[in-house]
Parts: sequence; C-alpha cells; structure tokens
Amino acid sequence: MKVLDRNFDFAVSAAGRINIIGEHIDYCGGQVLPAALSLKNTVYIRANGRNEINLSWTDVPDRITLDLDRLESYKGVKYADYFAACAYILRREGRPVLGCDVLSDCRVPFGSGLSSSAAIEVSFIAALLTIAGERIDPVEIALYALAAEREYVGMNCGVMDQYASACGKKGMAMLLDCATLDCKYIPVALGDYTFVIANSNKPHSLVVSKYNERRQESEAALAEINRFFPAEHLAAVTPDDFETVADRLDPILQKRARHVVYESARVKEATKAMRKGDVPALGALLRSSHDSLRHLYEVTGRELDVLADAANAFPLCAGSRMTGGGFGGSTISLVHKGLVEAFKEYVGERYYSLIGYAPTFYPVEISDGITIKAL
Ligand code: GLA
Repeated sequence: MKVLDRNFDFAVSAAGRINIIGEHIDYCGGQVLPAALSLKNTVYIRANGRNEINLSWTDVPDRITLDLDRLESYKGVKYADYFAACAYILRREGRPVLGCDVLSDCRVPFGSGLSSSAAIEVSFIAALLTIAGERIDPVEIALYALAAEREYVGMNCGVMDQYASACGKKGMAMLLDCATLDCKYIPVALGDYTFVIANSNKPHSLVVSKYNERRQESEAALAEINRFFPAEHLAAVTPDDFETVADRLDPILQKRARHVVYESARVKEATKAMRKGDVPALGALLRSSHDSLRHLYEVTGRELDVLADAANAFPLCAGSRMTGGGFGGSTISLVHKGLVEAFKEYVGERYYSLIGYAPTFYPVEISDGITIKAL
C-alpha cells in the first residue's frame, strides 16, 4: 500500500459485520446483537478541485467518473451506484460533497452476508465528510448510509448493518435497540471458544426482492395482530401475547411473526449468556435461531442449511446459524479454539460433497467501525 499512501490524503475504513443473533429483527423494531469485523472496506481519497468523483477499485479494472451535477443518474450502474448513492444523500441533506479521486479496497467478500455494501457506504460517506473538514459522527453517518441503501440502491433494509459498520468497537458485541438506537457494548468473552465464519459462496440472486418481500410480510403480520391488540413493533410482541392470537392469523404471516417474536426473546437470552460466558447456552440459541430462519422465516436455502447442519454435527461446535439477510451468504459457528482447523476440514468436506463447490472460512476478529488515517 506504500504507493497508494503517497497518492491520497486519507485512508478511511469501515467494517463488515457478523450478527450474533437477532435476524430479520432490525426492521421489526427489536434488539439485535451484531459485531464489527476486521474485514473492512477502505477508501483512499483526495480532493481534486473538480466537479466530479473519479472512482477506481483495487479488485476490478473499471474506472467510473460521477458528475456531481447528475448524482441521481447512476442507479444500477455496477460498482458505482453505492458511491453515487452516498454522495447523492449527503448533498440532499445539505452536506458538502467535494470533487475527489477515490480508490476503494474492499476486503469484505461481496455477497457473503457480511455487509460489504454497508462497509462501502459508511467508509465513503466518512471519507467525503473527512475531505470536506466536517465533524465525524458515526451514528449520523450510519443513518446517511441507511438512506443511501434504501432510497437509492432500493434495498429496504433495517439499520443494523450500517450502525455496526460505523459504530463497532474492538472486542465488543453491540446490543442495539433498532427502535431507539440505544446501544450497549458487551464484551465478547467466549472462553475456549471462538466464532468462525463460513461463506457459502452461493451465487447471489433475487436477494433484494426476497428480502423486501419478507419485510412486507412482517408488516402485514403486525397489521393483523393490531386487529386484536396494540403493538408498535412486531418485535415488541411477547411470546405469551402472540400465542393468544396466533391461530387467528393467516398461516404464512403466523410463521413469519412467530420467528420475529421468539427470535427477539432469544436475543435477550443470548445477551445474558454472553454476559455470563455461558457458551453452551449461547450455542443452543444459535441453533434455534437457524431452525426458525429455516422453517418459519424461510430465508436460509440449501447451502446455508448444509453448512449449519454440518457445523452443528461437529462435536466441539456449540452452535451454528446463518448470519445476515440469508438466501446465501455466511454462517457463524461457535467452535472450540483448539479444533478450528479440524472444523473447517469437516464442514468443508461435507459442504463440497453435497453442494459441489467449497465454502470459504474466515476467523472472526471483532474490530472498530470507522477508522480514519491521514496519509
Ligand atoms: C440484511 C439487512 C439488515 C438486516 C439483516 C437481517 O443484512 O441489511 O438490515 O435486516 O439482513 O437481520
């Protein structure tokens, strides 16, 4: 990176994330438990005094120039739309956006369910604000990134990924209340165990439309429940209250709501288990979460199920589940530190024999969200 360092003024990074538990809960107004990763996107940037943003990437040969007067016109342009989205939202919010040269270096694997898009958006917004000499407020940046993703990219996501990418802290999970943005940092102390990521490497398709469909279903489920009793958010409905009306709901909506209600309860249990360092209890909750995402919310798919089943069959794996939006992407597994290599071999072989291509494994190092370095 020495050559790069000399050509740019700042290196601004933001993190990918895992979500330990609380899946498809953020947009239902509940609590989630993500953590930021040392897998990051780094934006190298310098102001260029012109009315354009020149984009380049370390892993693709493309060069794309964004005209600052036409920021709305890059929707769907491969590689560039995330960047245009961020500049567009900042401008709309009355923040300064300077012409600049940018080199983006993404170490969060695309389509892995580890939030490469949030890492790109958060790092680029922080980079644009940095060259304009603006104050860096990670929560504000997360909300700009969320607006970019929802309004420009068209993924009607919740706040979890952008918040984790911007506000993560080394060694800490984040118990984030997505209705209030109240966030408590909880040390990830797992004794002899560690998290291992397995990326299914499933080719990405239809993720956005299926995700948006689940979101609509959860909204419809809340509307049905509200015919019987008031609840502001689906994730705020308790299991006991839910059971009083469950069999009066449309069958599909009942399944979706059942996942959300019980997954929210699992987040509370998992937080207690993490605070006590109770790995078996945490592992059991991860398994139940995956089962619920598989059978009730129906967002896993064969690749993630094979990965989770193989991990859960490994003797010193306390529990495994998909992480992120699903429909492909990654699992996280709680594995005994001394057996990580054996785990990778075991799960890798099973996955290959059933799916026909290999997964990729990453160690989990929990890291800070935004970092800014003057070069
Ligand atoms: C994706 C979305 C998040 C969240 C997760 C599922 O990662 O971007 O907002 O909804 O899926 O928990």
